[in-house]
Amino acid sequence: MSRAEVDYRRIRKAVFPVAGLGTRFLPATKTVPKEMLPVVDRPLIQYAVDEAVAAGCDTLVFVTNRYKHAIADYFDKAYELEHRLEQGGKDDLLELVRNVLPDHVRAVFVTQPEARGLGHAVLCAQPVIGDEPFAVLLPDDLIFARGPGALEQMFALASESAAGVVAVQDVPREQVSSYGIVDAPRFSGDSGRIELIVEKPAPEVAPSTLAVVGRYVLPPRIFSLLESLVPGRGGEIQLTDGIEALLQESPMLAYRFAGRRFDCGSRIGLIEATIQFALEHDDLAEEARRYMRAALEQNA
Ligand code: G1P
Repeated sequence: MSRAEVDYRRIRKAVFPVAGLGTRFLPATKTVPKEMLPVVDRPLIQYAVDEAVAAGCDTLVFVTNRYKHAIADYFDKAYELEHRLEQGGKDDLLELVRNVLPDHVRAVFVTQPEARGLGHAVLCAQPVIGDEPFAVLLPDDLIFARGPGALEQMFALASESAAGVVAVQDVPREQVSSYGIVDAPRFSGDSGRIELIVEKPAPEVAPSTLAVVGRYVLPPRIFSLLESLVPGRGGEIQLTDGIEALLQESPMLAYRFAGRRFDCGSRIGLIEATIQFALEHDDLAEEARRYMRAALEQNA
């Protein structure tokens, strides 16, 4: 298939870059990868996996470092635990443990030998992705959506417009230097063609305040562009720079998804997500609400 003819109608593969060190959560992340930190009762990675599976992905590629066994263990079959739950007649718990990954979905683990940036992590997935369009999900960005998940919304847009898609949200100008920032001057409805994308610009030079959130739908051409990049911001191979190179040859859309994003790469974001998911939880909402009211009163 030529460059112009990427078929975005059926995207099956999703990449999860999970090789980061999670230093903001030390000392917890000394032994627990940040993607395994729980929001209520599920690790962060599970939310991103569920979003990808709900969007129709059946091949999940985890780009990890050689020290992070916990993620692979989590998605592996837990024979002894399952056996015990079975013996104890704990069918509901057994179901929970088994449904971490549905049967039709396969998990593939790829090692990123050195921490050389997000673009490099995505490039490490190339042997599994091959010549197909694919999704990238950064599990730190937890997206709460009442309707279809953010990735499912993005797949619909990619399919409709035959273009790659990057999720965006508006942020205060003083925060632009924490994000990839896009310039998409002709927005219509919830999407607009990206004219420019730049990684973590200073507020005074940022082209807009429209920030990239960790969800991408990309064509396979991105791999060769990433391969020929020189290190960018922070001396790393940036996915943002690969996308900027891509813009010269094919359209990419910025998309304001329906949903609320929590930055679970930060401590306050993880706390906010925990509160949100507790307040939405069938069994916990009432008690959580009661506790929060009392705690706020006591600390007023
Ligand atoms: C990465 C990307 C950045 C994007 C952000 C979203 O940065 O490089 O463009 O806006 O994720 O969460 P990181 O947060 O890994 O520094």
